Amino acid sequence: MKKILILNGPNLNMLGMREPEIYGHETLDDIKGLCLEEAQKLGASLDFRQSNHEGELVTWIQESRGAVDGVIINAGAYTHTSIAIHDALRLLECPIAEVHLSDPKTREPFRHVSYIEPLAKIHVSGKGAAGYTEALRALLA
Ligand code: DQA
Repeated sequence: MKKILILNGPNLNMLGMREPEIYGHETLDDIKGLCLEEAQKLGASLDFRQSNHEGELVTWIQESRGAVDGVIINAGAYTHTSIAIHDALRLLECPIAEVHLSDPKTREPFRHVSYIEPLAKIHVSGKGAAGYTEALRALLA
C-alpha cells in the first residue's frame, strides 16, 4: 500500500471562515475527509497534517524521507518565503505535488514566487478543495 503525506501550512486551519470568496467554504477537516475517501478508493494510506510553524513543517518533511511514496504540500504563505521548506523538500526522493486552493499567480505580486514550484512534479492551483484529490490521483497514477 502506497503511503502519502499531505502537509498544510499556516492559516489553513482557518479554512471555512477564512476569506471564503477566495478559499471556498470547506474546512480543513472537510478536505481531509475528501482526501481520505479518495485515498481509500485508490488503495493508499494517508497522513494529513497542518501546522502554523515553519520548523514543524521542516521536521515533518525530514521525517518523511524514505518513509512515504509521495508528499502533497500546500505550504500557504510559506510557499512564497520559505527557503527552509524548499531545502527540506530537496531531501526527498519521492514525488512532490504542490497544491493551492486559489491561483496565487493571478493574485498579488508577492504570491507569484513559489519556492516549492521547481521541486514539484505536479502542480494544482485554483481548483479549491478538489485540487487536493486531483493531486492525490496524479501522484498515485
Ligand atoms: C494558498 C495561497 C497562498 O498565497 C496563501 O498564503 C495561503 C493559501 C492557497 O491555498 O491558495 O495561505 O496556499
